[in-house]
Amino acid sequence: MTIDIFREFGDSVESDSEDEFLLRQIDPTRLPTHIAIIMDGNGRWAARRNQPRVSGHRAGAEAVRATVETAARLGISYLTLYAFSTENWKRPRLEVDALMGLLREFLRKEIRSLKRNNIRFQTIGRERGLETSVSREIDRARKETANNNGMVLTVALNYSGRSEIAEACRTLAVEFLAQGRDPAEISEGDIERHLFTRDLPDPDLLVRTSGEMRVSNFLLWQIAYSEIYVTDILWPDFRRINLFEAILGYQKRERRYGDVKPAPNGSLIAANVK
Ligand code: FPP
Repeated sequence: MTIDIFREFGDSVESDSEDEFLLRQIDPTRLPTHIAIIMDGNGRWAARRNQPRVSGHRAGAEAVRATVETAARLGISYLTLYAFSTENWKRPRLEVDALMGLLREFLRKEIRSLKRNNIRFQTIGRERGLETSVSREIDRARKETANNNGMVLTVALNYSGRSEIAEACRTLAVEFLAQGRDPAEISEGDIERHLFTRDLPDPDLLVRTSGEMRVSNFLLWQIAYSEIYVTDILWPDFRRINLFEAILGYQKRERRYGDVKPAPNGSLIAANVK
């Protein structure tokens, strides 16, 4: 079932605005099922304003709120946000504490809105190592939204793509040996079933803000065939118009998954030459 995206945005889209112009171009039947976002540029946003990095993160939390709301209204099924990598522990203590505090605050403040919008909240990454107060808030949000069947909002926290794959392989090898099976027979499907994302489809669209052309150890296995969209917008400035642009960019791509597009006459010769 496709939703009427105009109705979803109701009066909040002014006629003749750029929002309306972009929204009209989005094909609701070809929305990405899963959007993953590397939220980058908080520090630079703050530096440009001569403010401490933490204020960039605070403004970034507002962009998170706006993006979650827009994605849910558009009818996106899965939204995954990279909030904190295992490498981010190397940052100054003050900044790490501020990021954890912002996450706690986001969950406390937004839980009502998540419930109202039928959003199911979950995290991926190692819970071990997180402060108890953060784990408690995550647990509460997860439990209170567990029965929601709208958009799944996944926050990657204390996450590393390489560790996730290595951990899956270790667990599998132990399991195989315990069952007397040959670990040489471990398949891609076996690995997938042991990733944090085992219940999520792979992202169709990976968005990265602030213009950097890197994947930064995010969902390394899962983005094998994702379309990558990089925008120069710094994360704290990212608003619904930017998500519309990313989706439109995605809808212009032709996804081939390693295959080729057959020529109209059925031959494969020069089929991909435009
Ligand atoms: C990257 O910007 C951003 C992060 C490491 C943290 C992202 C966190 C938030 C958006 C706020 C809280 C999150 C939630 C889910 C409520 P950077 O600091 O690396 O920026 P820079 O590259 O410009 O220095």
